[in-house]
Amino acid sequence: MITHAITRKPGPNFADGLTTAGLGRPDHGLIVQQHDAYVCALKNRGLFVIELDALDAYPDAYFVEDAAIVAPDVAVITIPGAPSRRGEQQSLEEILQAHRKIERIAYPGTVDGGDVLMVGNRFFIGVSARTNAEGARQLGEILARYGHTCTTVAVKHGLHLKSDVNYIGNNTLLTTFAFETTSEFQNFKKITLSKQESYAANSMLINDCLFVPEGYPDALSTLQRTGYDVIELDVSEVRKMDGGLTCMSLRY
Ligand code: GLY
Repeated sequence: MITHAITRKPGPNFADGLTTAGLGRPDHGLIVQQHDAYVCALKNRGLFVIELDALDAYPDAYFVEDAAIVAPDVAVITIPGAPSRRGEQQSLEEILQAHRKIERIAYPGTVDGGDVLMVGNRFFIGVSARTNAEGARQLGEILARYGHTCTTVAVKHGLHLKSDVNYIGNNTLLTTFAFETTSEFQNFKKITLSKQESYAANSMLINDCLFVPEGYPDALSTLQRTGYDVIELDVSEVRKMDGGLTCMSLRY
């Protein structure tokens, strides 16, 4: 049961963050509205939300998911893969030490939490442009010490593993074509989205509710048939910065 989330407000300079999306310059007023609606939706599902202020020096810092991994019994503070994001993790460590035992990734290992998919006791660690093999090795070793099983997965497409694959309960992954036949995921049922709606793979299960990005009608109707409550949220400005629903919170 998820009871807590940590979020961080997007700062006025959030548009200076990293992006490859090519969808135009995002609007600050609009992302603040979208972020507020996201926080509100988490609270409406009964979560206690710790809301952090923007970090002026780190325009991508509202993507809090990348700077830590929170397992049931440990939080692992990462070293983000992008040099411009290294340092975001410090203030999260201060918050998380009240909730979990803390472990840390050590350089030259790098890990972005967006590459880490938790399915119960099992973790899939994407090795990507951001999470390197050394970071994945260290994370796997730490999580194994706490009784978790880890499997690495090559991410050859998209920014992070969870840009393309997310667990939606009932042994089911919501995925894009890029991971439909990935051998590490062979024991899961899959819902594979069309190319046009692949962005909706970054949907987020909060207990018995699925948060889904607004604007993907086929994904929406498919997910409504799962029996979960489904909430659509507009994240157009987040998408312009290569982010999505999961990136904007740490959930535990
Ligand atoms: N803008 C999110 C990232 O590239 O890390």
